[in-house]
Amino acid sequence: MEEYCLNPLFSKEQIASFVKVLAEQISKDYKDRELVLVCILKGAFMFLSDLVRHLEIPVKIDFVRLASYGPGMKSSGRIEITKDAELPIEGKDVLIIEDIVDSGRTLQFLRDRLFLANPRSVKICALLDKKARREVEIDVDYLGKEVDDVFVVGYGIDLNEDYRNLPEIYYVTPVDQPKR
Ligand code: IMP
Ligand code: MG
Repeated sequence: MEEYCLNPLFSKEQIASFVKVLAEQISKDYKDRELVLVCILKGAFMFLSDLVRHLEIPVKIDFVRLASYGPGMKSSGRIEITKDAELPIEGKDVLIIEDIVDSGRTLQFLRDRLFLANPRSVKICALLDKKARREVEIDVDYLGKEVDDVFVVGYGIDLNEDYRNLPEIYYVTPVDQPKR
């Protein structure tokens, strides 16, 4: 098994403040609307659960599971839907909840797919955004924080299914080989 070095990027307190600011903005913008949150599994589960606890408006919650990453840190570029949304969204306002945006392909795929069901609107809320890596046109309407082109883990976000449980966010670097 490969070993990685975990370098602190955002503390629990920093994450909590990103989430609080987002929740306040969303609560204001969607007051008196019918909002459906569509959370992308698995990475956004922790972000969603903290976000909804700070919302001051009624919402419905749905989940989709999309897979684009193969093993390791490289995206396969091919997106598969392995669990579809279940709630009706026709005429409703939809807000996609994502952990981190990279090429933008995952969100482009999901947004286009949700639009087929005739929602009133579809917007995007992401905790983190690697804007410099964007390959398709995707704007994040509600963003926690932009990050550099690093591979991050923790707070729901994984590397080969590890580290999702960490309450903080780290960026990963290879461990130096021991000297002989
Ligand atoms: P995109 O389709 O290239 O924008 O990739 C977005 C998806 O890739 C996210 O939903 C994440 O699951 C995953 N991803 C992107 N960057 C990272 C990272 O730094 N760490 C872990 N997963 C990531
Ligand atoms: Mg994801």
